[in-house]
Amino acid sequence: MNVVILAAGMGKRMQSALPKVLHPLAGKPLLRHVIDAARSLGPKKLCVIYGHGGAAVPEMVSALAQETGSTIDTALQQPQLGTGHAVMQAVPQLDDADATLVLYGDVPLTTVDSLRRLVDAAGTDKLAILTVEQANPFGLGRIVRDNAGAIVRIVEEKDANEQERAIKEINSGIMVIPTRHLKKWLAALSNNNAQGEYYLTDIVAQAVADGVPVVSSQPSGEWEVAGVNSKVQLAELERRHQLNIANALLEKGVTLMDPARIDVRGELICGRDVVIDVGCVFEGRVELGEGVRIGPNCVLVDATVGAGANIKPFCHIEDAVIGAASQIGPYARLRPGTELGEDVHVGNFVEIKNSTVAAHSKANHLAYVGDAMIGSRVNLGAGTITCNYDGANKFRTVIEDDVFVGSDSQLVAPVTVGKGATLGAGTTLTKDAPAGKLTISRPKQLTIEGWKRPVKVKK
Ligand code: UD1
Ligand code: CA
Repeated sequence: MNVVILAAGMGKRMQSALPKVLHPLAGKPLLRHVIDAARSLGPKKLCVIYGHGGAAVPEMVSALAQETGSTIDTALQQPQLGTGHAVMQAVPQLDDADATLVLYGDVPLTTVDSLRRLVDAAGTDKLAILTVEQANPFGLGRIVRDNAGAIVRIVEEKDANEQERAIKEINSGIMVIPTRHLKKWLAALSNNNAQGEYYLTDIVAQAVADGVPVVSSQPSGEWEVAGVNSKVQLAELERRHQLNIANALLEKGVTLMDPARIDVRGELICGRDVVIDVGCVFEGRVELGEGVRIGPNCVLVDATVGAGANIKPFCHIEDAVIGAASQIGPYARLRPGTELGEDVHVGNFVEIKNSTVAAHSKANHLAYVGDAMIGSRVNLGAGTITCNYDGANKFRTVIEDDVFVGSDSQLVAPVTVGKGATLGAGTTLTKDAPAGKLTISRPKQLTIEGWKRPVKVKK
């Protein structure tokens, strides 16, 4: 199959410098949703027609092609003279032996299922149109059928008479066309219509005249063919998409405290009995093991959370691995390169970056752990800070098993605390601390006899 994605329109109503098809929905450009759906059909040729927005669209497409190891062609349509004119730009790329599927770059949520049904309906020799019955069809092309119910043509809103405007069945714009015929019909298009454009939709009447069967199929929901022309429509589709994702999670047995208050901008994989409270955002690939609980208002990006772990409210977790049965937060920040073992406790206002923390260790309050290797059963007191950066270079801190770090200690890296060592509260450690001993850096406590508080001088 050939796939042509139309993405040359300018998207004026988005009120944005960014080309319309590059605006994100669920964290992914609209056009990427369409390309991903197209790629699931395994097309032989895939061509994106672009126009507005300079090199931004072809750049995004070639980055995606590289990332996925696939070939995606682009063709410039300049000026934009209509949907038929847009498809003409792809003609040299289209293989006559296969049918051509036309998609719109600003219609992001068509399911692969619906596209497959459309492709099947077209077979090898029919023209198939994805249509829907819409309560308010205003502005869209109408499907005109004869008395027997056969499709005879598509008429655009601006060219339609009153009777035609009353038709509720609309053209989504998505269609499958036998390519040899498509090339011939495109060459015969005229722009003699209300908008002075070359309408792709005019090929339908040509198909009927040539005796090529025209069929239709319908998607499961109107949202599958909804286009994005404004931020309002983008926001509506975002909510629709998120609700679909939420429903899919519920179907799989995930408990969502409110399916209307979750945002998944990537892939969220959940084990059994996962509970997710309100206001959480998941980005990239996030994997939650069996029985994981995520409290309200957490952000997880590219993270793996082990079975039974409890992420309390207001945590920010990015590029991190959390061991089973761990307790995180509230208000914890796990930055890239954090790897926590089993049953690790990370409490409020603790930041961890590029560090490993082995099983049963705890940092329960107000700490910064950066570029460190922390052993098992370590207790980091409140206010523990690894001083990993001297303003030019970063250094590592090693804290071996069973260490107890007293509150408000600074570990000036590179430094190692030996197994079972204790650091007294307030220690500024600049040299290695030996295993099994108490190390403390603190001026001796002193009491000044006879000292008096100053009193206010009378004027
Ligand atoms: C088109 C259909 C209409 C259908 C509607 C569904 C035609 C003539 N009309 O309407 O029957 O109900 O879509 O939304 O086909 N584009 C280009 N180059 C152009 C013009 C458009 O690439 O020169 C792209 C746009 O970026 C967009 C898509 O084609 O992705 C549809 O264009 P748009 O102007 O939104 O649709 P209409 O022509 O109004
Ligand atoms: Ca138009």
